[in-house]
Amino acid sequence: MPAQVISGTEIAKQIREELKEEIAGLKEQHNLVPGLVTVLVGEDPASQVYVGAKEKTSKALGLYSERHDLAADTSEEALLALISRLNNDPKIHGILVQLPLPKHINETRVLYAIDPRKDVDGFHPVNLGKLMIGEPDYLPCTPHGIQQLLVRSGIEIEGAEVVVVGRSNIVGKPIANILLQKKEGANATVTVCHTRTRDISAHTRRADIIIVAAGRPKAITADMVKEGVVVIDVGVNRIGKTAEGKSILVGDVDFEAVKEKARAITPVPGGVGPMTITMLMLNTVKAAKLAAGLI
Ligand code: GUN
Repeated sequence: MPAQVISGTEIAKQIREELKEEIAGLKEQHNLVPGLVTVLVGEDPASQVYVGAKEKTSKALGLYSERHDLAADTSEEALLALISRLNNDPKIHGILVQLPLPKHINETRVLYAIDPRKDVDGFHPVNLGKLMIGEPDYLPCTPHGIQQLLVRSGIEIEGAEVVVVGRSNIVGKPIANILLQKKEGANATVTVCHTRTRDISAHTRRADIIIVAAGRPKAITADMVKEGVVVIDVGVNRIGKTAEGKSILVGDVDFEAVKEKARAITPVPGGVGPMTITMLMLNTVKAAKLAAGLI
């Protein structure tokens, strides 16, 4: 039987409705407006689209939103000075520096400079360390979105064999840590595969849940999965343009073939993508509540 297609668009919409209500309540009861700032260095077209979407969603939900677009040749010192100013601005509860940064800027140094209390991306080593010991303040947005997709689709994670393909700091490593936690919506047995894994198929074929962030179209094909698997596709690959000049996007999974064997699968677009921004909004609301002593 063909798989249930998990709609990230629909689940993200549900969570945004919940957040919108919570944000209105914070304003009414505490005169608190969560504030998010996005910082974009350079003119990478994909990053411009992402930052634009983050700004639009912030405004739609009733957040205070600020955007800083800096020239591609901005110095690291100037960027660090801006972050320092934003760290000390009480209107701002969340700071998002869009990655990747231009080559002349040291990404690690920039991520370290963000006050961990305002690190709504969850990329600061303090926040990643807290996740590692099971005491997270902010979960990284894409992995958190993946967990919510699974939980809200009624997929049993506890005790499941989860295989993650890809070991990036943004997706692979944090999703492995999240699903490993001794908590509800986690408690899985997690394996992480990567470019030096000897036989990826041997792992994916025994998985109950596969999470793919490999950055390559058709990294997962039908012969690599078992009947009844749940597949979460994090890939965003631009493989060409339509006649109207729009990018054609595909994920990392051979969707049409794998869907015939899977119990549930996420599409690209409309799967993980819409969840990332939604989780950023959720972290910003949490940051504001933490700053105001409400939690
Ligand atoms: N670039 C790609 N994904 C992300 C993300 O989740 N956050 C930031 N800051 N940059 C990104």
